[in-house]
Amino acid sequence: MTDAPPVLIILGPPGAGKGTQARMLEEDFGLIQLSTGDLLRAAVASGSDAGLRARAVMEAGQLVSDEIVLAILKDRMAEPDMARGIILDGFPRTAGQAAALDALLAASGQKVAAAISLEVDDEAMIGRISGRYTCAACGEGYHDSFKQPARAGVCDKCGGVSFTRRADDNAETVRERLRAYHIQTAPLIAHYENMGVLEPIAAMGPIARIQQELGTVLCRVTA
Ligand code: AP5
Repeated sequence: MTDAPPVLIILGPPGAGKGTQARMLEEDFGLIQLSTGDLLRAAVASGSDAGLRARAVMEAGQLVSDEIVLAILKDRMAEPDMARGIILDGFPRTAGQAAALDALLAASGQKVAAAISLEVDDEAMIGRISGRYTCAACGEGYHDSFKQPARAGVCDKCGGVSFTRRADDNAETVRERLRAYHIQTAPLIAHYENMGVLEPIAAMGPIARIQQELGTVLCRVTA
């Protein structure tokens, strides 16, 4: 076991299951899920200057500027719980963000332990995202067809009875998000392959099977 806390990245297009799997890894391994999408949505909800600048960009399905994303991420990474190890969900998304992450980690003698690339079919992602909803109280994710609460209308995790759907989860915006992914983010797969840390996972199957494969990768790279 290495001393430095592990830093893992989950790459994949919108709907690939990054958030679903990152939350389960957080529960199974005690790592912290760090989602730049969640951080940005919190900034929008707070009405901060960064949030106001990010809002229209997110609703159009485009990428928020590296400047805003890096500022929000660095603040979060400076918090003490990050010492448990991090699963980066939705970051990095551009070559500039990947270079900034490498530099940030190198400054404290760390590096990316694994970049897990969830491989999926684009067309299926539109259906996955259109059916998605989350518990308003705890953020647990559900889907109209693939993952419903055991008791209808009641969150399995916290018992909450109120659910929300994201403003950018409509077919038109999802197509734009997929386009942004292929142009700006998919090239990072080669970056992590060159670093020798790429872990591709076929992610069109059942959530539990993918969770098991990710767990195997995590055990191997942190051993
Ligand atoms: P973000 O919040 O990161 O959204 P995203 O990348 O578009 O990804 P999603 O959250 O939509 O999907 P996911 O892969 O997490 O899938 P999930 O597990 O929910 O970003 C939103 C926006 O913020 C961006 O468009 C951009 O504007 C901005 N942003 C964020 N980070 C940024 C950055 N670094 N730089 C610049 N801008 C940034 O699963 C989806 C659904 O499918 C769920 O209902 C789930 O239950 C279901 N599901 C999951 N796995 C399976 C499976 N195996 N089989 C069947 N159903 C499944």
